[in-house]
Amino acid sequence: MSNEPTGAELGKKMAAELALQRVQSGMTLGLGSGSTADWFVRCLAGRVADGLKITCVATSKKTETHALECGIAIHTLDDVGRLDLTVDGADEIDPALNLIKGGGGCHLIEKIVAAASDDFIVIADDRKLVPNLGAFPLPIEVAPYGWQTTALMIEDLLRNSDVDGKEGGRRTINSNPFETDERNYILDYHLGRIGDAVGLATALNTIPGVVENGLFINMASRAMIGSADGTAREVLPE
Ligand code: 5RP
Repeated sequence: MSNEPTGAELGKKMAAELALQRVQSGMTLGLGSGSTADWFVRCLAGRVADGLKITCVATSKKTETHALECGIAIHTLDDVGRLDLTVDGADEIDPALNLIKGGGGCHLIEKIVAAASDDFIVIADDRKLVPNLGAFPLPIEVAPYGWQTTALMIEDLLRNSDVDGKEGGRRTINSNPFETDERNYILDYHLGRIGDAVGLATALNTIPGVVENGLFINMASRAMIGSADGTAREVLPE
């Protein structure tokens, strides 16, 4: 049986391969997290085995482990400083290439690494393209201390925001609280529609206890979008 991916997995791989064309020897690279970013790591590993010289930083412990298994050395962001390029996945992508990220609970480190990069390319299969952000629950990383009080403050803000819903709750895994790599909690909010993603992203981060929200505003320079038919295309912000 062939190991070649099909369907959405093929779309993710094609997006990863298109982004890989932007990588040159000598670059410092941020490696994103999630199943699409994992494809990028696998494709990159093939080039590294062929002699490509790069210096990589991972956005999660999972990605670090995966990269090391694929033969890619990982450095800390503080050792590398600025990065030339970060390639990462997303949960939703709107026409301006604003994103919801954090489905894997890694958006704090993903945002720090993307912000430290001269270029940030988002890779995804075409199911992630949306006309408006908000159908995917917005992940908000919060400090464990007083998290329920922080949640009340978030809900107050949402009541006065241009969104269609404000239901949310702490993310769990096997009935236990999900903890991020930084040992924080994630609250996921079902907003339905986010009318003002720029304003909401800014306001959320003013709440004490909020560590980082999953809205990535004006960060991606381009999106590489793959499809189940084995094609991929580059999308620029509208
Ligand atoms: C993790 C992320 C991921 O990039 C996002 O959830 C997309 O994951 P996938 O490629 O598996 O759909 O933001 O925090």
